[in-house]
Amino acid sequence: MPEISIRWSRAGDEPGLLRLLQDTYERWPRVDTAAAPLDHLLWKYDDIGVQTGRHTIALDGERIVGAIPLLIRTFLIDSRPLRAATASDVAVHPDYRGVNLYMDMQAVARPTFRNSLDFNFGYEAPHPAMVRGRQKMDRWHVMAHRLAVLAANTTRLPPRAAAPGVTIDVVERVDASIDAFCIEAMRPFRLVALRDHRYLNWRYADPRGGGGTMLLARCGEDVLGFAALRVSNGTAYLADLLVLPGRNDVAGALAGEALERARAAGFERARCWLPERHPFREAVAGAGLSRAKEQRGFTYEVLRAPKGSLDFIDDPEAAVHVTIADTDLI
Ligand SMILES: CC(C)(COP(=O)(O)OP(=O)(O)OC[C@H]1O[C@@H](n2cnc3c(N)ncnc32)[C@H](O)[C@@H]1OP(=O)(O)O)[C@@H](O)C(=O)NCCC(=O)NCCS
Repeated sequence: MPEISIRWSRAGDEPGLLRLLQDTYERWPRVDTAAAPLDHLLWKYDDIGVQTGRHTIALDGERIVGAIPLLIRTFLIDSRPLRAATASDVAVHPDYRGVNLYMDMQAVARPTFRNSLDFNFGYEAPHPAMVRGRQKMDRWHVMAHRLAVLAANTTRLPPRAAAPGVTIDVVERVDASIDAFCIEAMRPFRLVALRDHRYLNWRYADPRGGGGTMLLARCGEDVLGFAALRVSNGTAYLADLLVLPGRNDVAGALAGEALERARAAGFERARCWLPERHPFREAVAGAGLSRAKEQRGFTYEVLRAPKGSLDFIDDPEAAVHVTIADTDLI
């Protein structure tokens, strides 16, 4: 095994990181986008104010042969902002696998995380090395909340429920006036990754990321709800859905509109992930999204979060808002 060095990434590492990701994954970018792969990478790990990319990389000489790319994001935990890291695109070049390089990168990165981040949070990646890694870092758990995969055949949607007085429009971008709605809509959830205009525009309005369709439900000027539709690998996803507390009728109307738009765009399959217990489940079921067999999981690890602040995470009844848009799968 050659001499490998491990360090934090710096500006200029992007082309080498891209080469590693393309040597590691069959398809990278894994989402549909017309953008050049390097532009997608720069988009994905851009500093947008609510999230920042920070990566541990392993080098053989000048060549990047391993990486744990991180997205650091603000979550609201009982309405209090805490910073969490989500690992995505974890990669070790095929020629360097099986000699503990992934674990060595973790060992270098973790002392810094412990002192600078409140918790880790991420999609439960099924790769055996990830499972083994979680076992070895024994404070890293699978969250008690399972996410149900909801599925719809858009050619057989139920009749749309009326939401009197509510209009739904497509918007190209959202401005800062949506932030007050987001705060109110996120309030019922004990755990939710921060949504605000910067994040929503980054996620759904930037073609480098694949874009999306943002739907706003309004009564007059007042925003009642937000939904986002993303298309990836031949499937339409109701990627995100947020409404003012108690307005599950608006959640149903937005889901119905999103599914109808997916059908009109030629997508027969539509999907959505929501926690098994979630206030919108009944409303989205009414719009045609019923439970598929699969479930998905998320993992977490408490780092410097204030003692007890995340205890509820092991209660499957606690209200959490996590969606597929919180992963990089779409
Ligand atoms: C996943 C990946 C990063 C692991 O990198 P790696 O450097 O080979 O992993 P390590 O050698 O540090 O192994 C960590 C642990 O997992 C185990 N492990 C690694 N690969 C394994 C495999 N394919 N099957 C079973 N166990 C495996 C190792 O034995 C080790 O456990 P141990 O310390 O008890 O011996 C690498 O295989 C990869 O890039 N895969 C393709 C991309 C991918 O799927 N990434 C994960 C999704 S985000």
